Amino acid sequence: MATLNINGRDVTVDVPADMPILWVLRDVVGLTGTKFGCGIAACGACTVHLDGQPTRSCVTPVSAAVGKRITTIEAIGETPAGKKVQQAWLDLEVVQCGYCQSGQIMAASALVAKTANPSDADIDAAMSGNICRCGTYVRIRAAIKQAARGPAVGKGA
Ligand code: FES
Ligand code: FES
Repeated sequence: MATLNINGRDVTVDVPADMPILWVLRDVVGLTGTKFGCGIAACGACTVHLDGQPTRSCVTPVSAAVGKRITTIEAIGETPAGKKVQQAWLDLEVVQCGYCQSGQIMAASALVAKTANPSDADIDAAMSGNICRCGTYVRIRAAIKQAARGPAVGKGA
């Protein structure tokens, strides 16, 4: 048994301590917005936030998430940064097939929360682990810049 804080709610789950939180989210809790891509921390599709830090949920065990705040794509729009990022994603029509985009938005939201007006180098550093087979990288970069105009907005709730 473990109690996890997921999107602001405490949820008690009966799972092994070494189970990756990706599968708790998708298969136990039913939050399927977080995607499975590679399973080896190489693609970023499964990115969630642990205490605001972008984290690969496919390789993060339940034991590492206990006592931390897990935020997923289902709730990132309730944070100031996530709201700006999602609006910019819509404005610039970033998405193609969509499969990688939960992870992209989670990584981008963490960047926008802490960095005002990120440079191309800042964006490369924050986003290079998130792969997009559709090649939406140019639109992602533009959307991050739009979302991050002005002061850093902080992680919020
Ligand atoms: S599924 Fe986790 S990084 Fe690819
Ligand atoms: S939008 Fe298709 S993989 Fe990124």
